[in-house]
Amino acid sequence: MGVIHDNLSRRKFLSSAFMTLGLSFGLGTLFIRFGQFLTPEKKEKRIGEVLIGNFTDIPDGAATPLEISGNKILVVRSKDRITAFSRICTDLGCLVSWDAAREQFICPCHQGVYDKNGKNIAGPPPRPLDRFEILAKGENVYIRV
Ligand code: FES
Repeated sequence: MGVIHDNLSRRKFLSSAFMTLGLSFGLGTLFIRFGQFLTPEKKEKRIGEVLIGNFTDIPDGAATPLEISGNKILVVRSKDRITAFSRICTDLGCLVSWDAAREQFICPCHQGVYDKNGKNIAGPPPRPLDRFEILAKGENVYIRV
């Protein structure tokens, strides 16, 4: 009788030990994840200048589509002025295109219209197109993304 009782006690002890260990591990992991949720790691915003070409390489009156680091961009040159806009429509995110004859950005999804300065002038877009900074260094033109 005594031997059977010892086996049951050992079994209960091991079972309780494994359950306690598993529970401690689970709660510890949950506690660490909750701490990470409360204090998220700050990611630095990476800003860089990317050479997009020589000033004369950019066609006058036209829009040049570019994709830099996942950003879809339209670079528009109007005589001696170069501007760059995000192609993402501020309504629901369709890609806008440049209408050279009207000098406007047109969104094909819901007929959103932006003027040549990226300002929303017709249709549902709630705000202007996002802009990218253009830097001229000599004849070279850079875009900051
Ligand atoms: S997504 Fe461009 S107007 Fe709706």
